[in-house]
Amino acid sequence: MTLPDIRVTVFPDAQTAARVVAERIGQLLHDKPDVVLGLATGRTPIHLYDELARMTASRGLDWSKVTTFNLDEFVGLHPEEPGSYRRFMEEHLFRHTNLRPERINFLVGTADPDEECDRYERAILQAGGIDVQILGIGTNGHIGFNEPSPGLEARTHRITLQPETRRGNAALFGGQVDRVPTEALSVGMATILQARKLILLANGETKARCIAEVVHGPLTTMLPASFLQLHHDADLILDAAAASGLSLTREKAEGKREHL
Ligand code: PGA
Repeated sequence: MTLPDIRVTVFPDAQTAARVVAERIGQLLHDKPDVVLGLATGRTPIHLYDELARMTASRGLDWSKVTTFNLDEFVGLHPEEPGSYRRFMEEHLFRHTNLRPERINFLVGTADPDEECDRYERAILQAGGIDVQILGIGTNGHIGFNEPSPGLEARTHRITLQPETRRGNAALFGGQVDRVPTEALSVGMATILQARKLILLANGETKARCIAEVVHGPLTTMLPASFLQLHHDADLILDAAAASGLSLTREKAEGKREHL
């Protein structure tokens, strides 16, 4: 079997990219109302969630049969605590939709970590696996909280966050890095790669070096996102700044909606 290269689509700005991905998800909800979505937090998907919230209000997107699984959560934080990823998702997406609470799956940061990771893996299996996984990428190349390391974990696990990752999350904690938890629970690499489709969003110049390595570089556990090269259906959706380190054909650089 040959694997296609990661598909790269570049848009002039993050809002346009988010609009196109939101349209794609809207279409998916129409075509497969019981779709299983894997969701990500961070600054990057905010435009996407804003757009989905807007489309839900204006067009009545129906989320009632949709199941969601988020990628990660901080250890020690209650789902309702400020700074938790669960709270982030409530604010940016969940409360704007008619998603049923029992179909929203989230790692619980206050649960026993080992049992919680096993429970989550079982829940993903029981849901029939993830149809479409939305991903961001850290400036260090992490996906979910799979941090660069000599070895990566296949399944959902507890992980110590790298200083760069804690700095990247400081905004959720009033800008105070010290308040960012030191550990998290994260879906593992194999579970991410088992999603039927991956859509990784990246915006801004700070992501350009990583993105160039993901597309042109070798597979390496020191850049977990490089493992997207092993997936048969992975899309990289970039704004112009995040794509600035790539050597792209003119066609790709102009963005082609049919790639989605
Ligand atoms: P960001 O984080 O969207 O806030 O840059 C992405 C990530 O760390 O996965």
